Amino acid sequence: MKRAVYPGSFDPMTYGHLDIIRRASEIFDLLIVSVLNNNQKTPLFSVEERVKILKEATKDIPNVQVDSFSGLLTNYAAEKDLHVAVRGLRAITDFEYELQLAQTNRMLSGGRMDTVFLTTSLEYAYLSSSSVKEIACFGGDISKTVPEFVAEQIYRKYRSAGGLSGEGNQ
Ligand code: PNS
Repeated sequence: MKRAVYPGSFDPMTYGHLDIIRRASEIFDLLIVSVLNNNQKTPLFSVEERVKILKEATKDIPNVQVDSFSGLLTNYAAEKDLHVAVRGLRAITDFEYELQLAQTNRMLSGGRMDTVFLTTSLEYAYLSSSSVKEIACFGGDISKTVPEFVAEQIYRKYRSAGGLSGEGNQ
C-alpha cells in the first residue's frame, strides 16, 4: 500500500491545496493531510478549525485522512511509518525553500524520507493562504480561491476581529 503525508500550515486551505490533495489521492492509496501545529506563528484558524475545514473539504475522497502534528515532520512520519511527503510547487520562487525542506527531511530521516512534488494547476499558480487572508481582510472577493464554506469562516474571523470593511465588494 502506497501511503504519503501532505504536510502544511493550511491556514486556511485553498483551492490550490485541494487540487494537490485530489491529484495526490489518485497517485497514492492513502494520503494523510497533516496540519502543522506551530506555536511560533499566530494563525487565523486554530489547528482544530483547520483540521475540520480539511475534513469537510475532502469528505468525498475516501482515501484521504486528516491529522495534525507538532515538531519535526520526520519524527511524525517515522511514528506513522510514512516515507513520502507530498508538496505542491507553484513557481520557481517556491523551489529554493522546497528543495531545502526536502533535503533537510531526507537528512533528518537518515535517507528514509523522500518528497514528491506536484506542480500546481496553472489556474491556482498565483494562490497562497496569505494572499487569501489579505484579500479577505480588506473585504475583497475570495470566492475563486477557497470553497464557499471556508470563505464564510474567514470573513467571520475578520468581522469578529473588527477588521472587515466592504465584504466581497471587489
Ligand atoms: O504550508 P507550509 O507552511 O508551507 O508548510 C511547511 C511545513 C509545515 C511543511 C514545514 O514547515 C514543516 O514540515 N514544519 C515542521 C518542522 C520541520 O520538520 N521542519 C523541517 C526542518 S527545518
